[in-house]
Amino acid sequence: MDYKIIKFQQHGDDRGQLVALENDKEIPFNVKRVYYMYNTVKGVRRGFHSHKKLKQILICTSGSCKIHLDDGHETREITLDKPYEGLFISHNLWREMYDFSPDAVLMVLASEMYDESDYIRDYNEFLKSVK
Ligand code: TYD
Repeated sequence: MDYKIIKFQQHGDDRGQLVALENDKEIPFNVKRVYYMYNTVKGVRRGFHSHKKLKQILICTSGSCKIHLDDGHETREITLDKPYEGLFISHNLWREMYDFSPDAVLMVLASEMYDESDYIRDYNEFLKSVK
């Protein structure tokens, strides 16, 4: 399955921690868009789509949440709870986000601008697209 957890370098000192991310270094693509989810209502599950082209890195910069990934053959459940860890997700993977802690901030770095035509939001259509 085309995903990986990337552990970012922490620049820590007696003041605390800092993580820096640069295009084509820590991030294996050029970032064209950043968005983040917060104040997610308890029990909410969101996502429910795949992308035709878009690559993303998900970072839970505060709190925790879980990510369900599905490539049409197998599934994975991944917990994001460290601000120095990123989950790289390639295109053609069905994703759902759930179990957000009240303080969760899920930040997403994306390889493309927002484009609704890049989304597959129907699960059966997704299955056909990966067969
Ligand atoms: P939506 O795709 O429903 O979020 P999720 O897949 O996480 O459930 O997006 C929610 C709203 O935000 C929807 O009206 C589209 C808008 N949106 C943007 O305008 N730009 C973006 O980059 C994203 C990701 C969403």
